[in-house]
Amino acid sequence: MTLLQTEQLTKQFGGLTAVDEVDMEIEQGEGVSLIGPNGAGKSTLINLVTRRLEPSYGDVSFKGESIVGMDPHEVVQQGMSKSFQTASVFPELSVKENATIAALAAEHGSFRVNFFRHRNSYPAVEELTNDVLRSVGLYGERETQADSLDYGNKRRLELGIALAAEPDMLLMDEPTAGMSPDETQSTVELIKRVKDELDLTFLLVEHDMEIVFDISDRIVVLNRGSVISTGTPEEVQNDPAVQEAYLGGVEE
Ligand SMILES: Nc1ncnc2c1ncn2[C@@H]1O[C@H](COP(=O)(O)OP(=O)(O)O)[C@@H](O)[C@H]1O
Ligand SMILES: [Mg+2]
Repeated sequence: MTLLQTEQLTKQFGGLTAVDEVDMEIEQGEGVSLIGPNGAGKSTLINLVTRRLEPSYGDVSFKGESIVGMDPHEVVQQGMSKSFQTASVFPELSVKENATIAALAAEHGSFRVNFFRHRNSYPAVEELTNDVLRSVGLYGERETQADSLDYGNKRRLELGIALAAEPDMLLMDEPTAGMSPDETQSTVELIKRVKDELDLTFLLVEHDMEIVFDISDRIVVLNRGSVISTGTPEEVQNDPAVQEAYLGGVEE
């Protein structure tokens, strides 16, 4: 089943076409990385898909239905989460409270609705948040206040918050940016583990090719807003168009 599909998706900023008629499909269960030189349009494409940006033209469908016109939070309720956003963490709440809020918000879209919630559904939320905290390795820290977590654990919490919404698809834009090699390694292991455990579909933007080749079922290469190649890591690595796009950038 196709989870995400873009058709002729385009974003212009004044005279600049940042995303240029992109046709892309992501199947359920696929781990896809989006790569390309700096300024290729990767973040813009992610922001179009998550509805942080309005397309100039073209369409985005999720689970077969157009999401253009929806608000970002509606897209989250449809099952699309973006992770590694510090903004989603409530620093004064505990790890567990943060995960619980994310689980409830994704289910109902707002907190006030929960007053009408049937009591019996709370144990399910409790179980879900505990499972998520175990998946990201934070169960032992569940009572810890979020802002006293160390850097690595904060990133785990950000991923946990996204997973607590039980997304069908997870988007990540440079999750390892600013991390030490050790933190990067543990984040990559974490993403791989949750992908296997939860059969998670993801779209990852990452500049570290070692990570990309290690983690992806398929790679989509953007250059100047256009898809110039797509395939398995091996296919993309051997594609002359990709080598040219990257070497061209280095030699300039
Ligand atoms: N809000 C914006 N307004 C104007 N230009 C933008 C805006 N966002 C991105 N751009 C431009 O669009 C192009 C693609 O940017 P971006 O999507 O951030 O690339 P990437 O994430 O691949 O590095 C760049 O030339 C960038 O300067
Ligand atoms: Mg970017």
